[in-house]
Amino acid sequence: MILGFLGKGGSGKSSVATQMALHAHARGSNVLAIDADHNMDISYNLMRGESIGTERYLGAALKEVLDHVGARDGESYADVFLRGCDTRFTIAPADPFTEQYSVMARERLRLMVAGPQTDTVLYGKSCSHVLTTPLKVYLPLLEPEENDVVVVDEKAGADGVTTGIVTGLDVGVIVCEPALHSLKTARQIAELMKFYGTPSLFVGNKVGTSEDKDFIAEHLGEEPVTYLMESTAVRREPSEPVAEWQDEMAAILEQANMLNKNDRLQRTKDKFERNKQYKGS
Ligand SMILES: Nc1ncnc2c1ncn2[C@@H]1O[C@H](COP(=O)(O)OP(=O)(O)OP(=O)(O)O)[C@@H](O)[C@H]1O
Ligand SMILES: [Mg+2]
Repeated sequence: MILGFLGKGGSGKSSVATQMALHAHARGSNVLAIDADHNMDISYNLMRGESIGTERYLGAALKEVLDHVGARDGESYADVFLRGCDTRFTIAPADPFTEQYSVMARERLRLMVAGPQTDTVLYGKSCSHVLTTPLKVYLPLLEPEENDVVVVDEKAGADGVTTGIVTGLDVGVIVCEPALHSLKTARQIAELMKFYGTPSLFVGNKVGTSEDKDFIAEHLGEEPVTYLMESTAVRREPSEPVAEWQDEMAAILEQANMLNKNDRLQRTKDKFERNKQYKGS
């Protein structure tokens, strides 16, 4: 199961993604946490501030991932998908590419990181979305085993969707807080996810009162799968599982399993086909 964590800036994507990684790990799953945001908050949480080493950053490895999946000279990643590609990535045991571009944050918990801003980005040669481009190739070809859990911590707002990696997700977890713009953004993200055909679910976060719950449900137009309460623990000890959130994490996983259509690769091919038609029109 590959879960992406989306939502407005500051809604709690990285905190909830970290908690999901820790929850699945405690349940005995093999876990791959992928940090797709150049602010690197889930990396910070899982590594307790230690660096994974710049040579492992996936964001700078577009050529390497393309070579790995057998792209021929001048072929784009879209071409590779459209003509078909036999390469698959795995978590446990990890295939050599995954092994090279990740570290074990704990036993059975691997971390892969797109990386921080680079000179390419800082000096305007390309925008920061380039750092997630290798994930457009990696995620659709990643094949977790039945009980493996992958969490992808995404960029804030609609950017998390438009970097184009969401067709590689099984389910999007849209995190929102009881604030008007957070809820508006959550609905926009859900609409965009529908466009890409990736199922999604809502999680209400930073809830203090029952009025907060009502506010969230009213502005989403539906009840979220679960509500996560305001928690001092998640702020002070973001690297540790929050004891009171374990039932909620289980509820999110259960709902995600029900929504999962197991069609990531096909949705990705459909996207590249659609893009090709559009460019040709
Ligand atoms: N339920 C909660 N209770 C208390 N504080 C929370 C809760 N969830 C998140 N926070 C705090 O809110 C802040 C933002 O959380 P987090 O970094 O997880 O959000 P984000 O959506 O990933 O942000 P960004 O858009 O910068 O990536 C952090 O300081 C975090 O500790
Ligand atoms: Mg974040």
